[in-house]
Amino acid sequence: MNNFYVELVELYERNGFEVQSSLSPAHFPGYNLADIPFTYILQNGKRMCKGGGLSIVELMFLQCVTSIVKPKNIFVIGNAFGWTTLALGLMSKDSKVLAIDMCPRPEEELGVKITNDLGKQITAEITAIKAKSPEDVPRVIRDNFEGGIDFVLIDGGHNSIQQSADFETCKRSAKKQCVYVFHDVINFNMVDSFVEIAKSNSSLVSSLLFRTPSGMAISYPKEFYEDLNATVNAFTEKDGTVKMLHSNGKKETKLI
Ligand SMILES: C[S@@+](CC[C@H](N)C(=O)[O-])C[C@H]1O[C@@H](n2cnc3c(N)ncnc32)[C@H](O)[C@@H]1O
Repeated sequence: MNNFYVELVELYERNGFEVQSSLSPAHFPGYNLADIPFTYILQNGKRMCKGGGLSIVELMFLQCVTSIVKPKNIFVIGNAFGWTTLALGLMSKDSKVLAIDMCPRPEEELGVKITNDLGKQITAEITAIKAKSPEDVPRVIRDNFEGGIDFVLIDGGHNSIQQSADFETCKRSAKKQCVYVFHDVINFNMVDSFVEIAKSNSSLVSSLLFRTPSGMAISYPKEFYEDLNATVNAFTEKDGTVKMLHSNGKKETKLI
């Protein structure tokens, strides 16, 4: 049996797309850390969509978590060209995955269509729709899931106000055992909003994931602590190491 990631690349390629993913800016001068480490779907060398998808290591994190919590009702804010929506479906073959995108451009509208087309070729039930968070979220969840959601990827608007609003609206439609994963938290300066979410939700265990290229984060119910702690630990860095690297990095910067 193939790995979900290999199946994902094959799925796009079989349908006439190319995948560009997880490259190092050190190997491609002129590109930066917010761009080339992530995933882009191409056709004839042209990017299909502006927003980058999760990197391979970030998908691996999702696979570690979903293999433990086995979510059935998965919700994604920010579909772009369907990369992580379809990845989640391939990881959780008997799940239902619903992704929304506000589709500011025709490219994301095409992304919704292609996600639905490719979604028909895999076992999980995949639906992508044009909708905006937070205002449309209660309705789309009510219309598509019975009993609420149990896994959320928040990867829509990349600012703190939007991230907090996305979390709050999802929480209102979520089951008690819902796991929340946030993309780009460190890269897009949304740590303050995440810390506030962590502080005001004492029933959740929250952690930044320093070993992911975008600086992802997770908040999960305390009842999953024994099951998820080792996974979260494997994708983050010890507090002491984080402090030491920040401090040493500042000294290095002064020397230059
Ligand atoms: C970084 S891309 C998502 C990538 C995708 N999660 C993946 O890994 O393949 C962010 C997407 O969020 C969408 N978006 C931004 N703000 C949104 C909002 N308020 N509601 C819904 N979608 C939004 C954008 O149109 C864009 O396509």
